[in-house]
Amino acid sequence: MSDEKRIPQHVAIIMDGNGRWAEQRGLERYEGHAAGIEPIRASSRAAIRHGVAFLTLYAFSTENWGRPAQEVDALMELFCQSVIHETPDMQRQGIRLRTIGDRSRFSEKVQAHLAQAEELTAGGDKLTLTLALNYSSRDEITRAVRKLAARAAAGQLAPEAIDEATIGRTLDTAADPDPDLVIRTSGERRLSNFLLWQASYAELWFPEVLWPDFTEEEFDRAMEEYARRERRFGLVK
Ligand code: FPP
Repeated sequence: MSDEKRIPQHVAIIMDGNGRWAEQRGLERYEGHAAGIEPIRASSRAAIRHGVAFLTLYAFSTENWGRPAQEVDALMELFCQSVIHETPDMQRQGIRLRTIGDRSRFSEKVQAHLAQAEELTAGGDKLTLTLALNYSSRDEITRAVRKLAARAAAGQLAPEAIDEATIGRTLDTAADPDPDLVIRTSGERRLSNFLLWQASYAELWFPEVLWPDFTEEEFDRAMEEYARRERRFGLVK
């Protein structure tokens, strides 16, 4: 049997525990989110180092609008500031930034900042870094079904021609491979409406570490765990 290390092509992360991290330190919740930027840098660096081509991060769910206005506003400001601030570094590292989710609900300012960062990093060929923003799987699937129904109603698509590939192509993640590994930090063991269609066959990894404490070494551990499971799977195949 080959002992070759298996590398996931696509890693998706539910970045959980920012609020608890801040509360443990007597800080405001938004300070926990701000402390969640460095682990994004660390994960991107580690992903590139391991040869992972796609990294998708759950940054704002459709349910997150229900949080106190002050926290939502702080997150919006953080998105704007960080995408612009990080753009030169992303360009240097060959990172292409993209988003999934319904961006139309964001302010024009947030949408403009995201569009600018996407445009400036479009040439990145080392890592596709996808931020899930105003995203949930059920919302994504609902939007896809509406699009397909509209095409069917217009006579452009026969209902019996709709198969899994048609649906996959209509989701926000159309062009991406499915995630091989989904990580959720902070010890919570739920998918919480994240990539439900795409993660059908993904390995799941739930480290106890809170997101602001997630380091390159934590990412390395997740890669080791993934390789171990792949090897075990290889044995019984
Ligand atoms: C969940 O922790 C985290 C979020 C809802 C926000 C994640 C956002 C960031 C890390 C900043 C992202 C910035 C960019 C540019 C992508 P929680 O608040 O639910 O933590 P808790 O469960 O401990 O309360």
